Amino acid sequence: MEKIKILAGNWKMNTNLQEGIELASAINRHMNGIDNTNVKVILAVPFTHLTEMVRLIDNKQILISAQNCASEVSGAFTGEVSVKMLKSVGVNHCIIGHSERRHIFGETNETLKAKVNLCLDNNITPIFCCGETLDVREADNHKALIKEQLEASLFHLSEENIMQSIIAYEPVWAIGTGKTASPRQAQEMHAWIRQLLKEKYSNINVNKIPVLYGGSVKPQNAQELFACPDINGGLVGGASLDKDSFMNIFNAF
Ligand code: PGA
Repeated sequence: MEKIKILAGNWKMNTNLQEGIELASAINRHMNGIDNTNVKVILAVPFTHLTEMVRLIDNKQILISAQNCASEVSGAFTGEVSVKMLKSVGVNHCIIGHSERRHIFGETNETLKAKVNLCLDNNITPIFCCGETLDVREADNHKALIKEQLEASLFHLSEENIMQSIIAYEPVWAIGTGKTASPRQAQEMHAWIRQLLKEKYSNINVNKIPVLYGGSVKPQNAQELFACPDINGGLVGGASLDKDSFMNIFNAF
């Protein structure tokens, strides 16, 4: 089986709508001009941009994602955006449990489990993030923590639903810091995630579940990371905000 390849850009809270349209249009134009069709591109843009992005992107390889969703179906939750709202504007992917959501906004494994369920109930692919902080790694607890995060929010899923999910391993100490996990460190964790998937879901081909690496992915380090056997691509923050650097990362596959 050929390795699944995905490049996801996480714009976080960056770009106003005009800037977002310019960036997405430039990526769309670039993608329309090349014939590499085996890498899927996902753009996780701010909520305010979603409707416009779904409308303007005409390249079939590019998919639009939200960066978060509510853990409730609907109701009196001022400021929240539900999965049904996302679905109604044509969004099919949603990042769940990014470390900034976990650490800045206090989202728990339990909340994330509810979000994952809502996404899958509504045919939205969750891009489920896991990753350890520096102190956890230094205490050599990183493998145990990833296991705990996956078991708490993802491993209740049916075989069918886990096959529709994407996992992103993002060591917190590498996000936005310029410090990337070395290809050896990243591959070790991706192999661990794959092993956990295999143990839990022994009847399915877990190579069909994409596991992305995130944390200071740049054009200079992408090739080495993407060449690792258990890395299916990247979830890119800072370097996804510039069309050329994002497309140079795309070219690293
Ligand atoms: P970064 O962010 O590429 O800027 O480190 C990655 C992420 O947070 O998804």
